[in-house]
Amino acid sequence: MDSRQPPRLKASLPDVRPLDRARSLKVKLSVVVVVSVLIAASITWLGLRNGLGPTKTFPLAIIFSLSFTLLIARGMTSPLREMTAAVSAMAEGDYSQRVRATSHDEVGQLALAFNAMVEEIASSDQIRRDVIANVSHELRTPVAALHAQLENLVDGVVEPTPATLHTALTQTERLSRLISYLLDLSRIEAGAAELRVKEFAVGDFLEDAVGALTMLEAGKQLDFVVDVDPGDLTITSDPERLRQIVTNLVQNAIRHSPYGGTVTVVAREEGDEVLLDFLDEGPGIAVEDRERIFQRFARGGPNSRSVNHPTSGGTGIGLAIVRWAVDLHGGSVRALEAPKGARIHVRLPKNHTLVGHQPS
Ligand SMILES: Nc1ncnc2c1ncn2[C@@H]1O[C@H](COP(=O)(O)OP(=O)(O)OP(=O)(O)O)[C@@H](O)[C@H]1O
Ligand SMILES: [Mg+2]
Repeated sequence: MDSRQPPRLKASLPDVRPLDRARSLKVKLSVVVVVSVLIAASITWLGLRNGLGPTKTFPLAIIFSLSFTLLIARGMTSPLREMTAAVSAMAEGDYSQRVRATSHDEVGQLALAFNAMVEEIASSDQIRRDVIANVSHELRTPVAALHAQLENLVDGVVEPTPATLHTALTQTERLSRLISYLLDLSRIEAGAAELRVKEFAVGDFLEDAVGALTMLEAGKQLDFVVDVDPGDLTITSDPERLRQIVTNLVQNAIRHSPYGGTVTVVAREEGDEVLLDFLDEGPGIAVEDRERIFQRFARGGPNSRSVNHPTSGGTGIGLAIVRWAVDLHGGSVRALEAPKGARIHVRLPKNHTLVGHQPS
């Protein structure tokens, strides 16, 4: 049976809802009882006045008042039937059905809540499908490239030169990056990250973290500037998570930088916060993309000012991980307008003392 078929009663009786304005089911039921009693009484009175005996008048009165009750009750309960049909459709993966929520009583409120719930389930189902599709795609691309590369090497079509081996290595690096991202993502899902905070010097930390990334510039001849003020600025936070933040943001800056560009990391103290800015001289991030890019698997869209995407080999998870790591510290991260290129602005508490803080 097609569960999306409307219930059978629908065909036999019209869906009348004259009592939709009533705010409570009790009021509706009282109205139905009073009106059907009035109908029965009027018919009995009319019948008796016109010389019809009780054997004819009573059945007539019952038929009319019962028909009225059935008609109104049907309108009152039709959202419940619609919900049943929608739930059956959802069980088959169809989240498009909504309930007509016109009444103001408890059933109407239930219908509204039901529609909101279906909306929510539909959107998380869509995200789940997207994640599976994206992950499969991201895993397939380097595996296919590696497979072709190794096949050519085995068949002797290409020589195992440093260049061919380097290409194969790049694909495996991409695979391992994706896998470690996925592990991070599952930790995000579990919300189970503990912060291991300690106090350390921001300047040394940034020099070290950015220095380790300079080799990723891929011959772009980039300049790397780390500007910390005051020079002895310290922070109490989790260095491992902070390294994730810096690594992802500097990797993005490198990826989007033009040849000969400058990647700048600025650290400042403001009250009880440390402000970090990651700047590059690339195409920048379009205003309409500035919130979306922090979602998982979001990459620059067709309107993106980024010239490198979506062919640059990114997985679209980096910024989601940055936001997660920043949230764990109770900080914030945003993409802001910059005179040139992109500017990612991170605010972290200078003294994070909460160990084992869970993201909200
Ligand atoms: N510095 C930047 N300049 C321009 N666009 C950027 C910059 N940083 C991020 N973006 C845009 O935001 C998108 C999401 O970035 P994110 O770091 O989440 O993913 P990615 O860099 O594509 O992949 P990866 O998962 O490898 O980091 C990018 O695809 C890009 O369009
Ligand atoms: Mg990235």
